[in-house]
Amino acid sequence: MDSQNSVRAAIEPRAIDLSVVVPTYNEAENVPLLIDKLTVALAGVDWEVIFVDDDSRDGTAGIVRRLARTNPNVRVLQRIGRRGLSSATIEGALASSAPYIAVMDGDLQHDERLLPRMLEALRKDGTEIVVGSRFVPGGDVGEFAANRIKISKLGARLARLIVKQDLSDPMSGFFMLRRDVFERVVRRLSAKGFKILLDIFASAPAPLKTVELPFTFGSRIKGESKLDTMVAWEYAMLLLDKMLGSYVPVRFLMYLGVGTFGLGIHFVVLWFAYKSNGAPFAEAQSIATGIAMVFNYWLNNVITYRDQRLKGVRFIYGFFSFAIICSIGALSNIGVASYLFAENQTWWVAGIIGVLLGTVWNYAMTSVFTWRVKPVDTKVVSEE
Ligand code: GDD
Ligand code: MN
Repeated sequence: MDSQNSVRAAIEPRAIDLSVVVPTYNEAENVPLLIDKLTVALAGVDWEVIFVDDDSRDGTAGIVRRLARTNPNVRVLQRIGRRGLSSATIEGALASSAPYIAVMDGDLQHDERLLPRMLEALRKDGTEIVVGSRFVPGGDVGEFAANRIKISKLGARLARLIVKQDLSDPMSGFFMLRRDVFERVVRRLSAKGFKILLDIFASAPAPLKTVELPFTFGSRIKGESKLDTMVAWEYAMLLLDKMLGSYVPVRFLMYLGVGTFGLGIHFVVLWFAYKSNGAPFAEAQSIATGIAMVFNYWLNNVITYRDQRLKGVRFIYGFFSFAIICSIGALSNIGVASYLFAENQTWWVAGIIGVLLGTVWNYAMTSVFTWRVKPVDTKVVSEE
């Protein structure tokens, strides 16, 4: 009888109302505690938590999986060879089928006791999204360093460039929204960097009916923050992508930026070699070209393709493919520009068209042959 009951219980449909999506990277010590806290806070709610772990070296995914074997509220989505808070959150939300989706950090800095009130607010008056805010009365940044508060406020001001509604804390990583709202925006999300909430607001076709609830940002007891200097860069990319992304790929803009910088390097070296040290022009120009090429390759690897950065031997191979492709680009640049010039085109117009053509060629080819994503190379990324 008993076993029949448990079979029935197992096949009994369980309608989950709320999926809590938690992106994790090296949160092994925090995850069991968070599950306990959610269990207490969400008593009376049909909920589940989905941890989206980017193959943390500390075994976070394994720990969650072990707990999930005996706790049907717990799920895990392990991503291999990928990194990114925003994309992890999006994929977690896509793996859920609940009508309400919450997003919170896995390091206990977000107050889980706010979740029932978020849910309540979301069920009322056509509310589309509820944001846990540190900057409405009653909220607090906790032990945030003064300069981080400043940066956060600056970030919030810049957010006005891409979000046309008043939000006290657009950088918050703690919020809950309706599934239909998420599904409406999901295809438009940039998925870049850390700022998933901002991405959602910026991608919504119309302002979202929003409720802001105050909470106090807790301090991190275990593990460490993954926010580093790259976050500011990724934030700039998110803003750019939202402003210009539908016209030009942001990666191409980065590539152009690096190229322009490289041009500067070229002329500095040329000046030193030719003007200052009296080397023959052709020799000076060759040295400058070589140095600019190495520099461009290195900077593109660090910045433009930071998510696919080549390391070790692959860095060397990558350089050769980059150099070969760019040489072909230079030849076609010269060829086309000379042809246009011979056809009586103004010299500078011919020059610009040649450069543009060469640049587009270089960008397109290196994106395929130099920085291609190969699933078998996942180790390189996850060992960061
Ligand atoms: N899957 C995955 N992949 N999770 C990640 C990654 C990643 O690449 N990077 C960070 N996480 C997880 C962490 O494990 C943690 O659960 C959560 O995302 C937040 O990361 P923290 O490193 O703790 O961020 P923070 O506390 O410095 O910043 C938080 O507060 C900011 C408010 O200023 C985040 O919520 C930010 O989004 C928020 O803007
Ligand atoms: Mn944190």
